[in-house]
Amino acid sequence: MEMVFFEWKEEYELGVPHIDLQHTMIVNMMNELFVDLGSRKAPETTKKTLDKLLLYVEEHFEAEETAMRENKYSDILAHISEHDKFREDVLRLTERHQADQKIAAAELIEFLKNWLCNHIAEVDKKFGNYICKQSEEAKKAFFQ
Ligand SMILES: [Fe+2]
Ligand SMILES: [Fe+2]
Repeated sequence: MEMVFFEWKEEYELGVPHIDLQHTMIVNMMNELFVDLGSRKAPETTKKTLDKLLLYVEEHFEAEETAMRENKYSDILAHISEHDKFREDVLRLTERHQADQKIAAAELIEFLKNWLCNHIAEVDKKFGNYICKQSEEAKKAFFQ
């Protein structure tokens, strides 16, 4: 049986299609990274997968932050500071990973997984609920 490192769960679904799609892409890239780390692939291959993931996460954060701005989301500052904390922690961990591949790899991937699933299920979910409520209200106002 094939083991999936990061399994997609229904609770991650926000109901905002473009954000949900980005989250599933992140989950797929996380699984790719897990496979690379566990196999005896050259460190450069793993580094490429890691860089691709982190670049994508950054693009995703920017997309979310833009969507929050455009929708005048009241919790935007708290949400952005969570992203910023992640940016700092990842920088620290990837630096350690470069210095000591083996030890830091396990820590890095555990951190990424825990942070991402908690953040999606709680912090992103709140924003998703806000967006869904807004579009419900817009619909009601339109059909009134
Ligand atoms: Fe997100
Ligand atoms: Fe987020």
